[in-house]
Amino acid sequence: MTRSIDELLARRNRFLGRGAPLFYAEPVHLVRGEGVWLYGADGRRYMDLYNNVPCVGHAHPRVVEALSRQAATHNVHSRYLDEKIIDYAERLAGLHAQEMSVVFACSGTEANEIAMRMARIGSGGQGFICTNAAYHGNSAEVGKLTHAPLRGRRDVHAIPFPERFRGPAKDLPESEQCAFFLAEVDKAIADFAQQGIPLAGMLVCPILANEGLPRIPKGFMAGAAERVRAAGGLFICDEVQAGFCRTGHWWGYQVAEVVPDIVTSGKPMGNGLPLAACTARRALVDRFREQTRYFNTFAASPLQAAAGMAVLDVIEAEDVRGNVNRTGALLRSGCEALANGHACIGDVRGEGLFVGLEWVKDRSSREADREGAVRAANLLKSRGFLVSNAGALGNVLKIRPPLVFNSEHAGLFLEALDSVLEEMGR
Ligand SMILES: Cc1ncc(COP(=O)(O)O)c(C=O)c1O
Repeated sequence: MTRSIDELLARRNRFLGRGAPLFYAEPVHLVRGEGVWLYGADGRRYMDLYNNVPCVGHAHPRVVEALSRQAATHNVHSRYLDEKIIDYAERLAGLHAQEMSVVFACSGTEANEIAMRMARIGSGGQGFICTNAAYHGNSAEVGKLTHAPLRGRRDVHAIPFPERFRGPAKDLPESEQCAFFLAEVDKAIADFAQQGIPLAGMLVCPILANEGLPRIPKGFMAGAAERVRAAGGLFICDEVQAGFCRTGHWWGYQVAEVVPDIVTSGKPMGNGLPLAACTARRALVDRFREQTRYFNTFAASPLQAAAGMAVLDVIEAEDVRGNVNRTGALLRSGCEALANGHACIGDVRGEGLFVGLEWVKDRSSREADREGAVRAANLLKSRGFLVSNAGALGNVLKIRPPLVFNSEHAGLFLEALDSVLEEMGR
């Protein structure tokens, strides 16, 4: 570690508080980004395979130009008429098949706060179902859904997240796995009914990104939505990670084959500018507006609209979704080929440019190997490739580059992964 990193760390601890999290055994000090590349203060170049916020690439000139132009024009809060934000809301709502309206926010947490309030108003209920390894944000209310217990909190019941690789249903055929996890939804609904708490809804990431991107039994999400609606609740998809073409579809709910009542989005929307949204069926948004008079100083601003519009323009002009499908298939098949020769990778999964490599101690027992995934992330970093570990057990190497990651980038990464696997196998 260089002296300057030691100095920065000491100042960081002093002024940001000890224990503010950092990636890697030796942290990276970044000073510049461009496309999928990040540049360190030491002059090193890193390929970014982790960050989903700069979805059209770091410092995309079209986004930078739109932001600069708007910042130099005017920027105000939402209590004035502004055509740009209306245009942006219309364009965003138009990305869904149903008639939707939008409430803007500045973070995924805020979007989920709005979604929960909206679901409570729309359903007249209180209780929420989530999964037991979810993360939807850091506020007091949304934070109740983080690693929530299966039962025991008054207004939140978690269900074991549906997965096919390990867990209680791993040995069943897929249709029975689906039925097993849907029975958990039924149980949560019954628990609320027994406590006299009406259901407000279920909040779930349609690809279970934070749970570790598991293979979800086919039909689970649609079955869960049906049950939740039959019990009077609303089905909310958290698209903060899954949305904006990450999976090769506009929305993760398209992969999960479910139609939500409410959709939340954030991270990639502004390519780095804080921009998030809760998009929902029009009648739900109208009732929410009437009852809450919701206001958020920095949300629904011309600056947010400029950034959001520029991101959508780039996604269309550069055929980002097409690239995600083409390069994602290449990346996954390359990872699968490497996994065939290395028993430490128990499973390769994902959609589009979101790939999870499940690190195991042993393929037959499928015992999770968190340390292996952490070591692989550190070895990749030392070769100039930034990834990280995630998932309920921390053993999934998460590969989630900006969406302008192309076949050449994939080739370089696969070579590096190959050499890391060689080193780890020695
Ligand atoms: C699925 C999901 N939802 C919501 C959030 C919270 O978003 P934010 O950090 O913008 O509040 C996150 C953040 O990691 C997330 O992964």
